[in-house]
Amino acid sequence: MEFESVEKDLMGRIGRLKTRHGVVETPAVLPVVNPNLITEEGAITPRELYDRFGFRMIITNSYIILKSENLKEKALERGLHSMLDFPGAIMTDSGTFQSYVYGDVDVDPERIVEFQRLIGSDIGTILDVFTTPKATRGEAEEALKTTLKRAKDSKKIAGEMTLAVPLQGGIYTDLRERAALDVTALGAEYIPVGGVVPLMESYRYRELFEILFHVQRGLTRGVPVHLFGAGHPSVIPFAVALGMDLFDSASYVKYARDGRYFTEYSTRSVEVLEELPCNCPVCSNTDARELREMPQKEREALLSRHNLYVIQRVIKEVKQAIREGTLWEMLERYGRAHPKLWKAFLLIGERWEDVEQLDPLYKKRLFLISKVSRGQPVFRRAIKRLMERYQPVGGPEGLLIKESDSFTKYLGKGYEDKEILLPSPYGPLPAHLFEVFPFGQTVSEDSFDEGEILSKYSSLERVEKAPEGGDWQWWNMRFLWGGVQMQFGGDVPEALWGSPEEAMKDVKVVRSKKTSRGRSVQYRGKHYFGVRASEGTFTLSWFSARALLNRFEPPRFRVVVSEEAAPYNAEGRSVFPRFVVDIDPELRPGDEVIVVDKDDNPLALGRLLLSPREVGEMKSGVAVKVREGVKSREED
Ligand code: GUN
Ligand code: ZN
Repeated sequence: MEFESVEKDLMGRIGRLKTRHGVVETPAVLPVVNPNLITEEGAITPRELYDRFGFRMIITNSYIILKSENLKEKALERGLHSMLDFPGAIMTDSGTFQSYVYGDVDVDPERIVEFQRLIGSDIGTILDVFTTPKATRGEAEEALKTTLKRAKDSKKIAGEMTLAVPLQGGIYTDLRERAALDVTALGAEYIPVGGVVPLMESYRYRELFEILFHVQRGLTRGVPVHLFGAGHPSVIPFAVALGMDLFDSASYVKYARDGRYFTEYSTRSVEVLEELPCNCPVCSNTDARELREMPQKEREALLSRHNLYVIQRVIKEVKQAIREGTLWEMLERYGRAHPKLWKAFLLIGERWEDVEQLDPLYKKRLFLISKVSRGQPVFRRAIKRLMERYQPVGGPEGLLIKESDSFTKYLGKGYEDKEILLPSPYGPLPAHLFEVFPFGQTVSEDSFDEGEILSKYSSLERVEKAPEGGDWQWWNMRFLWGGVQMQFGGDVPEALWGSPEEAMKDVKVVRSKKTSRGRSVQYRGKHYFGVRASEGTFTLSWFSARALLNRFEPPRFRVVVSEEAAPYNAEGRSVFPRFVVDIDPELRPGDEVIVVDKDDNPLALGRLLLSPREVGEMKSGVAVKVREGVKSREED
């Protein structure tokens, strides 16, 4: 089974899981199918899930099938896919959850895995030991040991079937991390997080998220991760942001049975609804009163379909947010659903350094709605880089303009002897940095004239208005110098160009006549950087890449590939993770990189799509999107 990551935001991703029954795009929710109930009148059949709702993977329970003579015989004879009439991928669970609900199950751990294989399950689950939040540390440790032993034994039986090995460990975060490490070492190809249903049922989201942070540390990013039993739409965006790829939901039908109606944020009883706040086909064709007064079976049929539509809508919204880099924004909205969810969400800001390692550098925009928005990793990373990398280019004297005007008023006005600072959501900010990500992409109604950055200036004058004069040459130099510090490192501009004064002679920023935005950077008449204007970042040319290679030791700025892959990358093909032998650990997804061979010969220029950790852990997909190979280059 192959799994690749195609788009990322926070610790979440859009992935592609290749199964024997087609490709499943993640994040995905797998509807739980109870094979005993799909023949009931009004029930949603697997065929309907596939054709009408577009679900490409479902989950069913092999224990239930095994315990029914009729189903067992059919499944063994015809196979699971034919029995359920589902052409997509089918995952099976093992009876572990039944053991939690009913106290015990009567099945042999090896027998249930063999059975799942025999009926043709695409992904079968071992009989893990469900560990509740009430378990003592000793009990949790014991259960982990048994689970791991069963995983090892099951591996020999699984054959072609992908084996899901759940992580237990109760509420003990170190045990959760340990479990993730052990299961990864075992080579599991599909990893669910188990034992968390009781936490979700009692709204203990903060503990759940804490567990997910620890799980993430021990896990490989190369396998899909499933959160067992998280079928409610309100937690899904958070779990995705914390690295979960798949979910299963029985709640859409269980809740429907009790007359409960999903919204994105909550669940309501139809008894209290006067309106149906939804436009799905169900809600478009009926109203609240009709639904309320309907016979039970009919109502259940409609409610379960509506609930599924809501789940799907949330998944689509999450995917779109990942593509736009606005997942954090979505969390701020969804977090409002419940005080406990909000408190749990704050943990993601508190642990921003964990998230930052995986979070892409560039987003389309940054909305700052409240203080909490400032906890998002891109914001924190910007402050961190400002403090660690940025040195005032315009000298140690600052001039803070009080009026919080648009920086464009100052565009092109570089003042020879002072650095102009403007109040911003990040605190006082050098005016020329508004051209640099994320400062120019930040949308906020708040700005501050106090902040850490002031410590970088030996003196600071506060004035109402900027002085007259100033010119483009000085402005451009500061934009370039500061932008390169923020993007590549505080020591880089000096290593490339000596001093700002020297650079003034040799370096030129070419701007669009119409918009004044930067287009490219030339050095002594040669193309040095491209400028991604909408993003405020620089792209490398061969000329600047060679300068970086000459002045900085490997692996800085580099992705080193194996001999086997080198010729392909030199031709301009993208870099696959498994051919990377070394990488600069400071890089982040979205960074410009130089692809080199083992002898540090440059092969290609491109953009890193994964974090260094992921490059080491992913087995398929693309690590570097190559823009140009040495053999395919057009100019120098
Ligand atoms: N379904 C919900 N929770 C669990 C779990 O912990 N293990 C298994 N196998 N299935 C589950
Ligand atoms: Zn609806």
